Amino acid sequence: MKKERIISVVGLGYVGLPVAVAFGKVRRTIGFDINPLRIAELGNGHDRTGEVTTDDLKAADILFTEKIEELALADFHIVAVPTPVDEANQPDLALMLKASRTVGQALKRGDIVVYESTVYPGVTEDECVPVLEQVSGLFCGKDFTVGYSPERINPGDKEHTFTKIKKVVSGQDYETLEAVAGVYESVVTAGVHRAASIKVAEAAKVIENTQRDLNIALMNELALIFDRMGIDTNEVLEAAGTKWNFLKFKPGLVGGHCIGVDPYYLTHKAEKIGYIPQVILAGRRINDGMGRFIAQRTVKEMIHAGHGILGARVTVLGLTFKENCPDLRNSKVIDIIRELEDYGCVVQVTDPFADPVEALHEYGVTLCPYQELQPAAAVVLAVSHQPYCDMNIEELCGIMGESPLLIDVKGVFDQSLLQKSGVRCWRL
Ligand SMILES: NC(=O)c1ccc[n+]([C@@H]2O[C@H](COP(=O)([O-])OP(=O)(O)OC[C@H]3O[C@@H](n4cnc5c(N)ncnc54)[C@H](O)[C@@H]3O)[C@@H](O)[C@H]2O)c1
Repeated sequence: MKKERIISVVGLGYVGLPVAVAFGKVRRTIGFDINPLRIAELGNGHDRTGEVTTDDLKAADILFTEKIEELALADFHIVAVPTPVDEANQPDLALMLKASRTVGQALKRGDIVVYESTVYPGVTEDECVPVLEQVSGLFCGKDFTVGYSPERINPGDKEHTFTKIKKVVSGQDYETLEAVAGVYESVVTAGVHRAASIKVAEAAKVIENTQRDLNIALMNELALIFDRMGIDTNEVLEAAGTKWNFLKFKPGLVGGHCIGVDPYYLTHKAEKIGYIPQVILAGRRINDGMGRFIAQRTVKEMIHAGHGILGARVTVLGLTFKENCPDLRNSKVIDIIRELEDYGCVVQVTDPFADPVEALHEYGVTLCPYQELQPAAAVVLAVSHQPYCDMNIEELCGIMGESPLLIDVKGVFDQSLLQKSGVRCWRL
């Protein structure tokens, strides 16, 4: 008879919480996090990431806890903790190893541990398993087993949610693979894909984001070239996009802790085994330089519009790393702000989704409420949050000064309408 597993989710962030809620809707689930504030908030029915509603939280049978003893109630552990890079863009596995130590303390014979965090091939078996074994005193493959199932959710996206995205699953042996597949199949309506091995599943996730990073890097490089030629990249892409097999990517800032980070996990591993990646790192360099480029173009446009630079006020709309999402981590908008400040501009930043306390803590940026924005020499629309997309030209002009200039990073506004209203515009 198939055993009904008790699930735990370790790390209740953007990824872990929706996973815990999906399982909590069909069975008792243990939700573990080291952040007591997060545990308290979730216990009170509030998810600050905005991924899960209060109603969904209430509908799920989840024991939110920071106690390892309660983690031990589960026999199927899902680990979804962050996997960032350090200042030198090297993978930082500290939280993965720490979570493995925690799970190791709760581990029993017959348990399965599945990692969902994005990693390079080999992390589950070569880095995490030794920690699980050492802390638990159990043997992997004999007393407990491991699997890997990458997460594909897209924060802020209410359509492609956890249960609606096909889940890649893997296990160290046939029985584990089937058990892992069975557990996920019980909640993921889109079904599962059984990967041939744990390393295959790890590699699959990291290349999904690497492919996206590189496609955007190509668009960014095209934008750099066309900008020198005075050609509008958006218009070029619109024309080229009429071909059936032209891929629809756009230039832009690549921030956050996935697309801009994951390729470094792959390149780190490649370098360790003696291969220096060229294409992937070239893409990373281009994408990482876009914030500075946008700021430099802003300054040039300000000069052409007749504005002085030193002491000029510039408004930046949006600070989070992506639209309609409060996540501030690794936002590249800060590169625009820092570069503008380097030129001597005074930058005021507003964002309807970002938490002001976090913005101050993370970047030293004091967010300005939208209603309190002062007229500025230039407005940089950095993040296409819905409220900005819903603005009409009159509202936009309301936050601009004389000789208005819009730097429309995401190409939100209609160029001809802007022109008619006398707004000078540059877009990526
Ligand atoms: N956010 C995304 O878009 C996304 C999508 C797919 C995959 N991923 C991957 O999923 C993983 C998690 O990302 P996230 O965005 O959910 O991170 P997050 O920062 O939103 O959440 C992580 C949570 O883990 C907790 N935590 C940290 N260390 C812990 C530990 N040792 N034990 C228990 N809890 C711990 C934190 O307190 C936090 O609540 C990363 O590897 C990421 O690359 C993220």
